[in-house]
Amino acid sequence: MLVCYLTDEPGKIPAIRAALEPRHQVLARVLGQEPVFAPSGVLLVDADLRHAARVEEIKHVLHGLDTINEKLFVVHRHLHHLIAQAYALGATSVACSAKEAVTRLARVEATMRASNAGVECAPDRMADSSAAFTSMFSAVGAGQTINPADAETVTSQIIASINQYGLSGWLDNVRRYHEGTFQHCLLVTGIAVAFAVDIKFAAQDVKRLGMAATLHDIGKARIPLPILDKPGRLDPKEEEIMRQHPAIGYDLLKDILGISSETIDAVRHHHEYLDGSGYPDALTASQIPDIVRLLTISDIFAALIEARPYRLPMSRENAYKILCDMGGKLEQALVREFRRLALTA
Ligand SMILES: [Fe+2]
Ligand SMILES: [Fe+2]
Repeated sequence: MLVCYLTDEPGKIPAIRAALEPRHQVLARVLGQEPVFAPSGVLLVDADLRHAARVEEIKHVLHGLDTINEKLFVVHRHLHHLIAQAYALGATSVACSAKEAVTRLARVEATMRASNAGVECAPDRMADSSAAFTSMFSAVGAGQTINPADAETVTSQIIASINQYGLSGWLDNVRRYHEGTFQHCLLVTGIAVAFAVDIKFAAQDVKRLGMAATLHDIGKARIPLPILDKPGRLDPKEEEIMRQHPAIGYDLLKDILGISSETIDAVRHHHEYLDGSGYPDALTASQIPDIVRLLTISDIFAALIEARPYRLPMSRENAYKILCDMGGKLEQALVREFRRLALTA
């Protein structure tokens, strides 16, 4: 079930994610920051209703979300006038804590299933890809190993989706229904696959690049959620922890039969730059194979155009300009090849 979570405190987002994912997909937004939600799923509002300005902001967000039937508000101080305020804003039910809201959501989901009146969903194949990503990440997060067949299934589904929707349709769907690490992985894989198709790679080479993209950030499954989902810039210590994810991903994959050494190498080296300024091994051009160069371009472009709770996505034009401005860090001949896809596909 898609849960649109609206709060006035960014610090609450990691906890609600931890409580709801992977059972539900969570789209989190901070009040007063665009973009707001697509009109689908269940709305969960957790904000201080004692402030008139907050109430006005909630009204603004709810305007246009009439198609969302379930609007659950958390009113921490279970005071009558705040409960009345929640219902006046359009709440369909009120919980006195985030914990109670989580329990209520489970009931809402059961009711929806029973009445066969499920929420609007992403297209089937995309929902499958997302579910497979979620299960891969949660398996790794829980200390289990990756099943290479799962990664191959996701990759094949994304290749099929790109063929079906084209890159623009795919980007729109992913950004509407997903966020955070899953959105990023879906975007990178879709962009890498579309790039490979655009430059006329053979089918098996599209799949090779797709597999590397699917798994490239798997190490993030072991990065603590408060850092991974921090709604703002990381401080230097957090940045240092985050920069461990390529090596963690490499360690997670290196002994798994059925994952090629090329994919494992791409996972470790997708943050390397041709001029030696990347990490974790400060490789230089001659040590960086083509598949990694393609993946790095796709990864950076995806990160720039992602929707984040705290900033608007960058336009594809501006994102492409940044790739060009990175000069000798990236293979500029490939960046020029990427132009057609970045700007027009
Ligand atoms: Fe990464
Ligand atoms: Fe990435």
